[in-house]
Amino acid sequence: MASQESHLTATLVTSILGAVIGSLQIGYHTGNINAPAKIIEEFFNNTWRARHNQSISDHSLTFLWSLSVSIKDFGALLGSLGVKYLADSYGRRNSILIVNGLSVVGACLMFASKASESFEVLILGRLVFGLFCGLVMSLNPLYIQEVSPTNLRGAFATLNQVSFAAGILVGVVAGLEIVLGTEHDWAMMLSLSLIPALTQYVILPFCPESPRYLLINRQEEIKAKSALLRLRGRAENVFAELEEMKEEAAHTQSRVTIQDFFKKRSYRQPIIIVLIVSLGSQLSGFNAIINYSTKMFQAKFDQAKYLTLGVGAVNLTFTLVAFFLMERAGRRRLLLTGFISIAVCNLIMTVVDSVLKICGAYVYLLFMIVALLAFTFTWIRLPETKGRTFDDIAEEFRGAEGIPLHNKTVFNTFT
Ligand SMILES: *[C@@H]1O[C@H](CO)[C@@H](O)[C@H](O)[C@H]1NC(C)=O
Ligand SMILES: *[C@@H]1O[C@H](CO)[C@@H](O)[C@H](O)[C@H]1NC(C)=O
Repeated sequence: MASQESHLTATLVTSILGAVIGSLQIGYHTGNINAPAKIIEEFFNNTWRARHNQSISDHSLTFLWSLSVSIKDFGALLGSLGVKYLADSYGRRNSILIVNGLSVVGACLMFASKASESFEVLILGRLVFGLFCGLVMSLNPLYIQEVSPTNLRGAFATLNQVSFAAGILVGVVAGLEIVLGTEHDWAMMLSLSLIPALTQYVILPFCPESPRYLLINRQEEIKAKSALLRLRGRAENVFAELEEMKEEAAHTQSRVTIQDFFKKRSYRQPIIIVLIVSLGSQLSGFNAIINYSTKMFQAKFDQAKYLTLGVGAVNLTFTLVAFFLMERAGRRRLLLTGFISIAVCNLIMTVVDSVLKICGAYVYLLFMIVALLAFTFTWIRLPETKGRTFDDIAEEFRGAEGIPLHNKTVFNTFT
């Protein structure tokens, strides 16, 4: 079971901060494209006119713009396929450093698009940045959870979200016309994620690799021990934690086939949970709001971009609330509260929308149904993980099969 309480050390805090800067970059590029949509569309139009000696059609413009916005998520999907290979081959920290290069390249491409008068370069830049997103969105939680002591794991995982939400807010603000969302500055505004990216290159090389990775994936006990010693500061905690990891390693089979993944209940259960909880949070309307709210509300309100700003601020506030409540209230209860709240909000949006006729009200009903399904599933299936070790959580899933423990495997990268 859980080891003794661990305390904050300078190395631990630095490692966590070094990692969460990645999520700040993702948030930044999630928020900054919303408000200046009109100005960047004008750039598309001008570029088109310079080439073809005619204005772009509404249809092509909508297509190109939607492509620019959504190609980041497509890139993220592709990127996520490489996570396991990178994380297990190069380690968690090194992988974060490697993929940070994609962020740098992506930001440079976005910056170059204006000077080169090419919207293709902007789209390519967002694709490359999307690859970075897909990789970091999995690498970051992995690294953070593996360097965190059990009693702080949830709070630090949430800190990653706080950083993401802060990035969105900064992105929304930077994208405002009175800040940098102007015809003159938008390309420079898109490239500002270089600042956190380069900061990460300064901080992270001084942070230790995940001890769990060193011990379980590499079998390098001495290195694992010294990494853990740096993170925890005290030798007595280190011993107990290493023992725990070894026990976990003993439960881990090195070769797991894809068929195993779908056949064994001990795997299937956590996979279904991860899928439903992520789908539930992705498809409950948040992305639609954060990507398109300014465009959606522009027809009705002159100051639609400030509405987006409000959304960003509320988002950050509640992520902070979750951060402070995480280790007290437990994950289950917070997640359930989140899903039921977003279902209620979508219901309210449906009503408001059939006043205002912004877009089809049924969209929100669809989001609401997704949120309610996710709520129900979470209620029935999600075990509380607060204060529990990885091995302990995995044991609960193994228990579902009723076969002796020593034959069973651990969900190695439980997130
Ligand atoms: C562009 O189109 C306009 C009218 O459609 C025409 O008068 C002009 O000659 C064209 N310019 C070039 C460079 O083809
Ligand atoms: C493109 O720009 C021209 C000239 O500024 C404008 O008349 C036209 O409506 C614009 N096209 C779109 C699709 O916004």
